[in-house]
Amino acid sequence: MTSTPLNFPKTWGKSVSVLFGIMALATISIPAANAAESMSAQRADIHLPVRNYINAFGGPAGVKALINTFVGNVAADPHINYYFAHTNIPHLKYELTQQVCEVVGGPCKYTGQTMTQAHQNMQVTTAAFNYLAQDMINAMDTRGIVKPAQNYLLAQLAAMEPQVVTAKGPLG
Ligand code: HEM
Repeated sequence: MTSTPLNFPKTWGKSVSVLFGIMALATISIPAANAAESMSAQRADIHLPVRNYINAFGGPAGVKALINTFVGNVAADPHINYYFAHTNIPHLKYELTQQVCEVVGGPCKYTGQTMTQAHQNMQVTTAAFNYLAQDMINAMDTRGIVKPAQNYLLAQLAAMEPQVVTAKGPLG
């Protein structure tokens, strides 16, 4: 059996692996033959960490539309929708929109709970996390978000996994 980083679903793992591969390649320093080349290599490095994908998501309105599609996917997903049975869905949509807009570089400010606070005592498993990730990938595909922007958001969500997942499922 092949394993993917952080136990993502196959498609997500592949996307994120590709992303990390690209990032690793981008930070390799290439010996330059002269000072001008050296400068441009440095400049390329300096610009790489600055990532702003809000336009690729269609601005804040595009993020709002994405979250609508995403929450619809989650609500229709029998693997995880029971987690949301008692959730105030309009509030959840609002908080998710602010959060995703902010992490992709938009002019929004997330002011909700920390991920630890929001998910404590919820018994979220790795499997549930992965189903939710797939629901987001499907929503981004539906909305026509380009893959580099998708991979960026997925990497951001992956970084929150330790705060969200607090329980083991029957298979670990
Ligand atoms: C990286 C992945 C995730 C992110 C970024 C995320 C983000 C959020 C945010 C922003 C909120 C609202 C917090 C607030 O009201 O202040 C929230 C609430 C919630 N999340 Fe997540 N979440 C993630 C994964 C999951 C997973 C995997 C599940 C379960 C399968 C889940 C279940 C819930 C539920 C049920 C609530 C609502 C709690 C309530 O009713 O107050 N989340 N999440």
